[in-house]
Amino acid sequence: MSRRAVNPSRRLADSGTLPFSGAFPQKSRTSPLLSIGLLLLGGFLLIAYSYRGSGGSGSVKAASRIGEVLSCTSEVQQAIPILKKAYGDSMRKVLHIGPETCSVISNLLKEDDIEAWGVEPYDLEDADTSCKILVRKGIVRVADIKFPLPYRAKSFSLVIVSDALDYLSPKYLNKTLPDLARVSTDGLVIFAGNPGQRRAKVSELAKFGKPAKLRSSSWWIKYFVQTGLEENESATKKFEQAASKDSYQPTCGVFHLSLSQ
Ligand SMILES: *[C@@H]1O[C@H](CO)[C@@H](O)[C@H](O)[C@H]1NC(C)=O
Ligand SMILES: *[C@@H]1O[C@H](CO)[C@@H](O)[C@H](O)[C@H]1NC(C)=O
Repeated sequence: MSRRAVNPSRRLADSGTLPFSGAFPQKSRTSPLLSIGLLLLGGFLLIAYSYRGSGGSGSVKAASRIGEVLSCTSEVQQAIPILKKAYGDSMRKVLHIGPETCSVISNLLKEDDIEAWGVEPYDLEDADTSCKILVRKGIVRVADIKFPLPYRAKSFSLVIVSDALDYLSPKYLNKTLPDLARVSTDGLVIFAGNPGQRRAKVSELAKFGKPAKLRSSSWWIKYFVQTGLEENESATKKFEQAASKDSYQPTCGVFHLSLSQ
């Protein structure tokens, strides 16, 4: 298995168990004192667990988590005003694909003139309340991007992907990239991690199952050429101009692909 794909049964199992509960032996000749100790520990864990689930500080938690991991998704967040300058009207109907998509979608939806949808490629175990609402409304979907996206052709004006493609082998990229192009009318923007970028921390590695294969820009460009995807030079130029004006320096590789064959 290359990474942990969406698995609803696992999610159910996870939410039903307390942390560490498996660490205690099933059959034990516990002394009364130890029992009391365990009871206290159990109570403490319950309290801690319900606090964690209360959601009040959810968005803050998500934001700081993005902050501590140098992710391309957090660079998409910063790039929203620059993407608007580069794409103008093509930003009217955006699909973002990548981990933490809820936070990107929430920010895009703050813009008056943007409709936004998201695909979260991984389990949403620790989703906060606002993210759960986005999922319930169908604005964010949890979907394995190795399979065709659950949208009709040309459903969006622009498709933006971050962090998700780094985990796919060329075999799957060959299927996924044309499918991303299928659902877009005006373009595809890909934020990919650069080698040398200290990206995933240990906790993130556990989430994704294995480290990303960070590829160089030249690897990606060669791959795009081979796959028949062309760079949208005008979009690239506008993006770079707007980026330098705003002093935005992405550490991720940003690729602007055109859909005209
Ligand atoms: C992916 O597609 C390209 C272009 O069609 C092809 O040259 C390459 O061999 C394919 N790679 C894999 C791993 O299937
Ligand atoms: C290139 O990007 C611009 C936005 O800067 C967009 O309007 C145009 O449709 C794109 N061209 C192609 C061929 O995809």
